Amino acid sequence: MAAPNAMTDAARHREAVAIAPGVHWIGALDPQLRNFDIILRTEQGTTYNAYLVRGSDGVAVIDTVKAGLADEFFARLESVADYGEIRAIVLDHLEPDHSGALPELLRRAPQATLYISVRARAILNGLLKSVTPRPQPAVVAVKTDDSLSLGDRKLRFIHTPFVHWPDTQCTYLADEAVLFCGDLFGCHLGDGRLFDDRIGEFWPAIDYYYAHIMRPFARHVRDALAEILPLAPRVLAPTHGPILRDRPHRYLERYQALARRPASAPPTLAIFYISAYGNTAQMAEAIAAGASELAGVQVSTHDIEAGETAAFVDLIEGADAVAFGSPTINSDAVKPVWDLLSSLATIDVKGKRAAAFGSYGWSGEAVGLIEERLRGLKMQLPVPGLRIKLIPSDEELAACRDLGRQLAASLVGGHGSARTLDLAEPG
Ligand code: FEO
Repeated sequence: MAAPNAMTDAARHREAVAIAPGVHWIGALDPQLRNFDIILRTEQGTTYNAYLVRGSDGVAVIDTVKAGLADEFFARLESVADYGEIRAIVLDHLEPDHSGALPELLRRAPQATLYISVRARAILNGLLKSVTPRPQPAVVAVKTDDSLSLGDRKLRFIHTPFVHWPDTQCTYLADEAVLFCGDLFGCHLGDGRLFDDRIGEFWPAIDYYYAHIMRPFARHVRDALAEILPLAPRVLAPTHGPILRDRPHRYLERYQALARRPASAPPTLAIFYISAYGNTAQMAEAIAAGASELAGVQVSTHDIEAGETAAFVDLIEGADAVAFGSPTINSDAVKPVWDLLSSLATIDVKGKRAAAFGSYGWSGEAVGLIEERLRGLKMQLPVPGLRIKLIPSDEELAACRDLGRQLAASLVGGHGSARTLDLAEPG
C-alpha cells in the first residue's frame, strides 16, 4: 500500500488535481480495499477516478465514484466548480463503482444533461428506479463521433462496447489529447500520487486487472484499440489506478499484446480428462488417436489431475476445439473438472468447438452436465457427448475414435464416420 505521505497535498486534502489545462481529477481513494467485486484481490487498494472538464460554456463531469466515497468526490468537485456550472454528466460506464454518486450529483445539479451510450439506457433505469424521489435527468444517448460542445472545447464519444460491460464507451478531449477510457488500461492501485510517472513499477497490477476484467472480452478490446490507436492520446485517464501520461503508447502496446488473437494455424484440439480407474483416460487416448487421423489438426491430451488450472486455461484460450472427460461420481462430474470449467469465464471461448465424454458406473450424468456448461459458455458442440459404462470395449473405443475424427473434421472439413456415438445404457 502506498504510504499516506506519498499522496499529493491535493489528494490528501480532498482537493481536485489538475491533469491538463481545465481538466481535473475529482475521484476518490480507497487504499484499504482488499477485495473488489468478490473476484479481485486488491492488496494495494484502488481508486475510483472521476474527472471534470471546464470549457468556456460550462463544465462536464466524467464518471462518478462508489457511493460510500461520494463525500470525497463532492469535496473535490466543489474545489474547482459550482454545481450550477455543470452542463453535462458523461458516464462512460455505469457499473456501481462509477455511478454510485450519480443520484446525489443529479440532485445537486438537476440542470445537467446525461450523456451515455445507447446500451447504457437500460442500466441507468435499473440504477435510478429505486431512488426517491426518482431523478428525471435529460438523457442523450451517444455513439461514435457524436460530440458535446463546452464552448471552446469539445468532448467526442467513442463507442467501445463490452470492455467490459455492454454500456462502455470512451470520451476524448482532442485539444489536450486526453482519453477518458473507463476501465480500459485501469488497475487496482490506491496510490495518492495519482500519476504513473510518480509511482514505481506497477505493470503486474495492469496485467492482473486485464486478466480478470478484460481477458474474456479480448475481441472487444481489439475493436476498442482499433478506435483508440489512431488518436495517439497523450494522456490515458482510466477509472481505476494511476493516470497514464508517461509514454502512454506503452499501455496501448501492452493491451495489444495481451489481447492478441492466439495463432490458430494449424488448428488445435486439446483434450482434458480426469480418470478414477483409467477408463476415461482410455477414452481420451482413443479420441486423440481418431482426431490425429485428420491431417492438419494438432492434438494434445492433458490429465487435469496432474496439471495447473491456469496453464490449462491458457491452452484452452489458444485451442480451436476442446474436449472434457470426467467420470461420474455421486451423479456429477468431479470437482477438478468443474474447477477448470468455472475458470473459463475468464477467457473468450465463445464459438470454440467442444465435446464431453466419460466413463461411468451406473448413472452417467457427468457428460450431460458438462455439455450443459459448455453450451452455457456459448461453445459449439458439433458432436454429441459420449458416455461409456465402466471399461470401454473395442467397439466403444472405436466410437471414441469416431468422436475424435468428427470433432477434428469440424475444424478442417472432411468427414468423420457416421457411427452412432451414444453407447450409454440407461442408468
Ligand atoms: Fe470499475 Fe467495470 O467498473
